Amino acid sequence: MSNTTVITIANQKGGTGKTTTAYNLAYALSNEGKKVLLVDFDPQGNLSMCFGIEQPDQLKYSMFNVMNAIMSDEPLPPAEKYIHSHGNIDLIPSNIELSVAEINLRDEMGGEKTLASLLEPMKSNYDYIIIDTNPSLGLLTINALAASDSVLIPVNPQLWSATGLTQLLRIIVKVKKRINPRISIEGILMTMCNTRTNLYKEAFRLVKVYYRETFRIFDVQIPLSVKVGEANFYSQSILEFEPKSKVAIAYQELAKELMLHGN
Ligand SMILES: Nc1ncnc2c1ncn2[C@@H]1O[C@H](COP(=O)(O)OP(=O)(O)OP(=O)(O)O)[C@@H](O)[C@H]1O
Ligand SMILES: [Mg+2]
Repeated sequence: MSNTTVITIANQKGGTGKTTTAYNLAYALSNEGKKVLLVDFDPQGNLSMCFGIEQPDQLKYSMFNVMNAIMSDEPLPPAEKYIHSHGNIDLIPSNIELSVAEINLRDEMGGEKTLASLLEPMKSNYDYIIIDTNPSLGLLTINALAASDSVLIPVNPQLWSATGLTQLLRIIVKVKKRINPRISIEGILMTMCNTRTNLYKEAFRLVKVYYRETFRIFDVQIPLSVKVGEANFYSQSILEFEPKSKVAIAYQELAKELMLHGN
């Protein structure tokens, strides 16, 4: 058994802070001395852009080529072609071509396991592998869930919807039953929180009413802050851009909560 934890960040609703959480959590874990692989598994390529790849669509090698090689039973491209590094953090980028891979997955026998089979031999190099998913419950998200030990669900109080979360949880249960029995829910993370607003208070109250009994709701919450957009603009993690900001401290706290839980 490897000691690597593979975490998917998922919520099929757009703009809940998945990519921001994947990126900053990776930095926070790296600050704790952990070796982290980030997997951009969204054809939008937002995580790759956060990582400093300005035009993911121009990449010669991305997740698309790797997935295609696996599906065609061809050798993978050399790792240095598709793994980008920054300090203790590595990234496999994605771009719009990944949506073609998603279409090809439909006809692939055992296609749900394609990402899992890529990541399995890489585990010995990392403490954490964090997968950022696209806002959908399609085959890409299912592939990510099939490869993961746990799912972290960012919830934006501005966009709260109980139905949306129920659909996601239903898919996770299905994946657990049919493809990946080891998957569990890491927890619900409240993001973009402005604790003074009534909207936040009501959304948080409902999240607790519906889910407190069943899932962990992280103690730490990510505050709403313009600093996040600024850090993204400069392709920096908030932990590099403004390490003393409340958002940076919150992501560092999240990393600690996760590590504690893992132990
Ligand atoms: N804590 C925060 N405070 C303020 N803005 C934030 C915060 N977290 C994320 N954002 C901003 O909100 C927007 C959506 O965030 P993000 O891209 O992380 O969401 P997402 O769930 O990955 O979106 P998608 O579903 O499109 O992949 C981005 O512009 C991001 O900069
Ligand atoms: Mg995203």
